[in-house]
Amino acid sequence: MDLGSETIMARVTTYRIRGKKKKGKKIVMLTAYDAPTARILSDCGVDLILVGDSVGNTLLGYESTIPVTLDDVIHHCKAVSRARPNSLIVGDMPFMSYKVSETQALENCGRMLQEGGAEAVKIEGGGDVVDKIAAVVDAGIPVMGHIGLTPQSIYELGGYRVQGRTADGAEVLVEQAKRIEEAGAFSMVIELVPTETAKLITESVGIPTIGIGAGPYCDGQVLVLWDMLGLFEDFKPKFLKKYADIRSVISEAVKAYSEEVRAGVFPDETHSFEMTEEESGRLYGRT
Ligand code: KIV
Repeated sequence: MDLGSETIMARVTTYRIRGKKKKGKKIVMLTAYDAPTARILSDCGVDLILVGDSVGNTLLGYESTIPVTLDDVIHHCKAVSRARPNSLIVGDMPFMSYKVSETQALENCGRMLQEGGAEAVKIEGGGDVVDKIAAVVDAGIPVMGHIGLTPQSIYELGGYRVQGRTADGAEVLVEQAKRIEEAGAFSMVIELVPTETAKLITESVGIPTIGIGAGPYCDGQVLVLWDMLGLFEDFKPKFLKKYADIRSVISEAVKAYSEEVRAGVFPDETHSFEMTEEESGRLYGRT
């Protein structure tokens, strides 16, 4: 039986992600929430696709990630997995979908793989989630941790503020990172911390760190795709580099289309269908 060995070989695994740290190779992660985008990221060789709860801010119109439900993320994860990307698909566990108990974490992380088609899950939090991470990993589900600024705890943290800014704060994050590694996570996101703190965390653990707003010394980097493509005018955090201006591209196209429709220029002959001459004659001969 031909299992399409080339395709299978090319698929990114958690094993390969861990190996990248050992080899000193940087890891590339981006978010995606739909099939065509997932296909593009995969074709560009992106290592990890995160179906982030950032879908709440980017696509669903919420002001934070708090209202995003497990069903929301599973819905988008399904779309991403239908694209069958070679990139490893990570499903982001949304607010209150894993913190209640180990049983709840196991059931919901299981749904993310079984229904959503994810190959790993991401769990936000420090010491409070270590036992959940251990239980989920024990069940055979790869887990990516997420420390520093954890947007699901935004009210407790008092806003989107840089974390680990003091030496004591950095030590706390290093301890959290070590415990997450001990619990069996295969990697972790570090969000919005000073460069020095992220460097110390990265040097303190054997698993890859993937930074967002955490400076250049992490083992990899992640950005929210719609942010780096420049879809939002008002979102300009210091860490965000805009690699494109998709908002302008969309606006220009929509304006051009609107003008042509209003002027009766679109559709023209090349974008319309015709009958055969005979049928056309018969049609008009009827009147
Ligand atoms: O939901 C998300 O997109 C994330 C990234 C910012 C890491 O958690």
